[in-house]
Amino acid sequence: MADLYLAPMEEITGYVFRNAVSRHFGHIDRFYTPFISPDNRIMKTRAGRELLPENNRGLNVIPQLLTNNAGLFNEAAHLIANMGYGQININFGCPSNTVAAKFKGSGILRDPILMDRFLDGVFDGKDSILKSFPSFRISVKSRVGYNDTSDLPKVIEVLNRYPVCELIVHPRIKKDLYLGTVRMEAFDYVVANSKAPVSYNGDICSVEDYERIESKYKESIRGIMIGRAAVADPGIFRRIRTGEKMTKQELYGFLNDIYETYKKDYSPENALSKMKEVWTYTAGLITDEKVRAGIIKSIIKSKNGAQYKDAVTVAFSHMI
Ligand SMILES: Cc1cc2nc3c(=O)[nH]c(=O)nc-3n(C[C@H](O)[C@H](O)[C@H](O)COP(=O)(O)O)c2cc1C
Repeated sequence: MADLYLAPMEEITGYVFRNAVSRHFGHIDRFYTPFISPDNRIMKTRAGRELLPENNRGLNVIPQLLTNNAGLFNEAAHLIANMGYGQININFGCPSNTVAAKFKGSGILRDPILMDRFLDGVFDGKDSILKSFPSFRISVKSRVGYNDTSDLPKVIEVLNRYPVCELIVHPRIKKDLYLGTVRMEAFDYVVANSKAPVSYNGDICSVEDYERIESKYKESIRGIMIGRAAVADPGIFRRIRTGEKMTKQELYGFLNDIYETYKKDYSPENALSKMKEVWTYTAGLITDEKVRAGIIKSIIKSKNGAQYKDAVTVAFSHMI
């Protein structure tokens, strides 16, 4: 059976979200942090809070780094390894224009030579994390191309030169952003040609979606990662494993829990804006399109905790 992973989602699936989802619903095998851009201040910024062992107790967390600079990668990797983590995931998927223009994230997929040079520094460079921590593991999360999938064979050839411990594939190209149908032919190519164990990510929204991928690929994939659908329905992992559906009360308790923790750890404004971000997905549980649009509008417009709570009460009255 494929393992279940919570996807990294910037500003959303950080330590507050993952602790709550684990406590309220469970059944997640691995949690990936939203990407961290390594620089010298890595442990002083919010990335530090994200990685602090006391913020991740009892969870199998894999920090994700976004860079194409092997020196910066290895420097951050040493800090991360010294905190007790055993693996880092490299982001070769971020489609943001500012990131991709600098040949980072999905941007590196159009330059397999740069990717090769970067990975050589990561795995074999003189400051490689593997020189100080030989059992440290490095995985990759990738899209299947930039403008199209024509570079995919070269990308896989490069990745196959290194002991990548796992390759998580979101089978879209940079240009797709998060839209359109996933490119399963490209995913099949990766499964057939990758030396690293492959995991699947993209558009898993139901138990049926999970079972379709699981029964098609069986032991040829290691894990299935869920992002947006898990923000809307954090009980999806439990439902996949046990069949038990999330109740309205459970969702209410979960959202309340993360809001209270955000208020403790962030300013009231930031806590509110984080909840608004979550609600852009949660609102998907309201089936009537018109009602949903109105609810999203009133949650987004709320200026303080009291207005937010009123809007949430209305939202819950429309949920089945
Ligand atoms: C708002 C948002 C933020 C994301 N942040 C990250 C990130 O930090 N690192 C990453 O590898 N992928 C990130 N992703 C991509 C997701 O991890 C995942 O690959 C994508 O949403 C497809 O999976 P899904 O269909 O299950 O959501 C992000 C996606 C969204 C929508």
